[in-house]
Amino acid sequence: MPMGDTSAGSSLDVLLDSGKIAARIRELGEEISRDYHGRTPHLVGILKGAWIFMADLVRNFSIDVTVDFLGIQSYGAGTTSSGEVKITKDLDVSIAGRHVLIVEDILDTGRTYQYLQGVLSAHQPKSLKLVTLLDKTSRHTVPVKADYIGFQIPDVFVVGYGLDYDQKFRRLPDVRYLRGVASV
Ligand code: IMP
Ligand code: MG
Repeated sequence: MPMGDTSAGSSLDVLLDSGKIAARIRELGEEISRDYHGRTPHLVGILKGAWIFMADLVRNFSIDVTVDFLGIQSYGAGTTSSGEVKITKDLDVSIAGRHVLIVEDILDTGRTYQYLQGVLSAHQPKSLKLVTLLDKTSRHTVPVKADYIGFQIPDVFVVGYGLDYDQKFRRLPDVRYLRGVASV
C-alpha cells in the first residue's frame, strides 16, 4: 500500500473537505426533518464508521430522534470486502413499530446494507430507510438504493471522518483517498 506518511494523513489527497461535508449535512438534516415531521425516527448508527457522521447529522435535525447503534465488521485489514458481516454489538432496544433510519458511512458493494435490511426488517419496524454519507454507486453488486445520500463518489478507497483503513485515519476531519488505490 502506498500509504506514505500515514501518521498525519498528510500524504492522502482530500476528496471532500470538512466545510463541504458540514454544508451537505446541514441540507440532509433539513430534508430528513421535513420528511419525518410529526414523527420521532429511531436512528441506528452502524459502528464504527458512521459515528462521526451520525453525531453531526443529529445536531442538524429540528425533530426529536432516538438513537441506537449496531456494531458490525465487514472488512478485515484491507480494502477488499470479505463479503461476511459479523455483529459485534447488538441493538439495545426493540425497533418493532418504529420508523427506523439506518445511518451508514458508505455504500460500496451494497452487501452490508442488503444484509442489514434483511436482519432489521425481520424485527418489524414501521418503516426502514437508509442515510449514507457516501455512495460508490458504480461499485454496487446488489440492487440497493439509499434514501438519502451525502455524496456520490468515484471508485477510490476513502478514509477520514469516521472511515478507516485498518482502523486508522478515522479522526481526520476531511474525507481523503489513497491515490491509485481502487476499492477492489
Ligand atoms: P459494502 O458491504 O461493500 O457496501 O461495504 C460497506 C462497508 O465497507 C462500509 O460500511 C465501510 O465500513 C466499508 N468500506 C467500503 N468502502 C470503503 C472505503 O472506501 N473506505 C473505508 N471503508 C469502506
Ligand atoms: Mg470500515
